[in-house]
Amino acid sequence: MKPDSRIYIAGHRGLVGSAVHRELVRQGYTNCLTRTRQELDLLDTVKVNRFFANEKPEYVVLAAAKVGGILANNTYPADFIRDNLILQTNVIEASRLNQVERLLFLGSSCIYPKLAPQPMPESALLTGPLEPTNRPYAIAKIAGIEMCWSYNRQYGTKYLAAMPTNLYGPNDNFDLANSHVLPALIRKTAEALASGADTVTVWGTGTPRRELLYSDDLARACVFLLNLDEARYNSMLAEDVPPLINIGTGEDVTIRELAETVARILGFKGRLVFDASKPDGAPRKLMDVSRLHQLGWHHTTSLERGIRLTWQAVRSQFRGQRSGK
Ligand SMILES: NC(=O)c1ccc[n+]([C@@H]2O[C@H](COP(=O)([O-])OP(=O)(O)OC[C@H]3O[C@@H](n4cnc5c(N)ncnc54)[C@H](OP(=O)(O)O)[C@@H]3O)[C@@H](O)[C@H]2O)c1
Repeated sequence: MKPDSRIYIAGHRGLVGSAVHRELVRQGYTNCLTRTRQELDLLDTVKVNRFFANEKPEYVVLAAAKVGGILANNTYPADFIRDNLILQTNVIEASRLNQVERLLFLGSSCIYPKLAPQPMPESALLTGPLEPTNRPYAIAKIAGIEMCWSYNRQYGTKYLAAMPTNLYGPNDNFDLANSHVLPALIRKTAEALASGADTVTVWGTGTPRRELLYSDDLARACVFLLNLDEARYNSMLAEDVPPLINIGTGEDVTIRELAETVARILGFKGRLVFDASKPDGAPRKLMDVSRLHQLGWHHTTSLERGIRLTWQAVRSQFRGQRSGK
């Protein structure tokens, strides 16, 4: 990409999109195109086509999606599959019609089968049944990968699907009703500190292992991929394998280790209580990132540093707050 390349970041106010936008600006890209949902509803095919025809982006980061936790996915499965299929189809087709050079389609590790080998390689795609709770969402994402692959084969486009592991960072969702494990731990620990409670209750046994990637590291990986030289970029676009790449650290920790790290960083001196009556989820979810490492990218933010940075950015939100939950 050139410093003045026209780069459209779809979903630039979300956790992923905002991090990618910040990183592009930090690296000196001066022509980032952004639109809020109010300015451009990506479910509206006519408006999406008009936007692409007017703005002619050369690169697209597709980080807009209807995203939610288990509860939302279970309650609104039809909305999750429909909105994601429409939104991504609109952006992928408009990109083709307007000769976008490279498109990066963001998905997540839920595209892999529930019982995929650990760590999960890209080749695990479509080798077994999915986790049922977010199957409609995952199938929409798998359809997006298949679309990128089909468009590359039929139209000669250069679309790549990137599957990040669990992310965390300052723009995360800290709402306990549908947040992921790390923001939930930060919030509970912050609230215990604020209220003077001497225990923090953690869901499950604390033994499952999880991989976590700092959102700014993901952003750096996305820019790295979009910027790869032709030979290395094209090495991911072979006809016989999906154009798919995992993004993660390749390292995981137990939930107990995670809770202890959060407690240490926030300065919580009380006790962690593990509520084994609550579900543990999968025993392990780790990405195989050897393809990304072979291309020359490694994460740079350790979990310890990433949690410190996140806490520094959000601590004022929690000062003196009590949740009542
Ligand atoms: N967060 C993670 O841990 C994680 C991990 C792996 C992969 N991912 C993937 O990364 C992608 C983005 O996730 P995220 O966590 O950044 O989600 P997010 O924070 O919810 O952001 C999604 C963005 O999409 C926008 N959007 C949704 N529907 C839209 C529409 N109809 N028109 C225009 N914009 C729309 C939202 O706009 P509004 O702000 O206006 O709602 C929001 O800015 C997803 O594909 C997800 O699977 C996320």
